[in-house]
Amino acid sequence: MNNFVASQNIWNADLYENQHHFVWQYGEELLNLLTPQPAELILDLGCGTGQLTAKIAQSGAEVKGIDHAVTMIAKARQNYPHLRFDVADARSFIVEQPLDAVFSNAALHWIQPPTSVTHCIYQALKPGGRFVAEFGGKGNVQAITTALYKALMSNGVAHPETLNPWYFPSISEYATILETQGFDVIYATLFNRPTPLSTTEKSLANWIQMFANDFLLGLSSQQQNQVISEVEKCLSTQIYHQETWILDYRRIRIVAIKP
Ligand code: BEZ
Repeated sequence: MNNFVASQNIWNADLYENQHHFVWQYGEELLNLLTPQPAELILDLGCGTGQLTAKIAQSGAEVKGIDHAVTMIAKARQNYPHLRFDVADARSFIVEQPLDAVFSNAALHWIQPPTSVTHCIYQALKPGGRFVAEFGGKGNVQAITTALYKALMSNGVAHPETLNPWYFPSISEYATILETQGFDVIYATLFNRPTPLSTTEKSLANWIQMFANDFLLGLSSQQQNQVISEVEKCLSTQIYHQETWILDYRRIRIVAIKP
């Protein structure tokens, strides 16, 4: 089991909502690929605090959100008390009725092995059902990852790559997983999406604490601050422009159909 799953359970839902709106704001584009219809049964897998679940519900579809993080589900229920949200593991969830669609934004890069996830999704769908997802693809946040490795090594962590919780596949790797599972992959793309953080002074530090916490877990708070400041220094000439950190996000988007 990867480290992330344990740490995701203690995600800070307030920091996520207050400083990282872009996660669901960019995800709204993915709804154009989902095109939810009234009365369809749809699962939002890795729903976070529920913003996109609520958008799907506006179409008249019957949607439920699931997430492994207890804190995120508590916040989603508070935000949208009229919608259904459950804590569940993407590698072992089961559904009450076969679904028309499974939707997932910015979640699948946290969950390994991917084959367990695609197996569950396949089982959950009706024949003709669709899987529509976006997450980090090959090369995602490469500049940050390289800077983190360098800073961790200079602070005594010999093999920082073993702490890396992320799964960023290429199109061919992920399409092969889906096809091996039995899906028809009808759309797949990989694209750069430079992502500006808010202009607050601590926005990169907040991002690291929110999304790259697994790299810092074994360090004292003094060492953590040192690593973060070395990462900021290293990246300041690469991804800091006009007082804004612009992260090197790279997305994979997929639409696959269960025949
Ligand atoms: C992403 O959405 O691509 C992402 C977010 C946080 C950490 C790694 C990747």
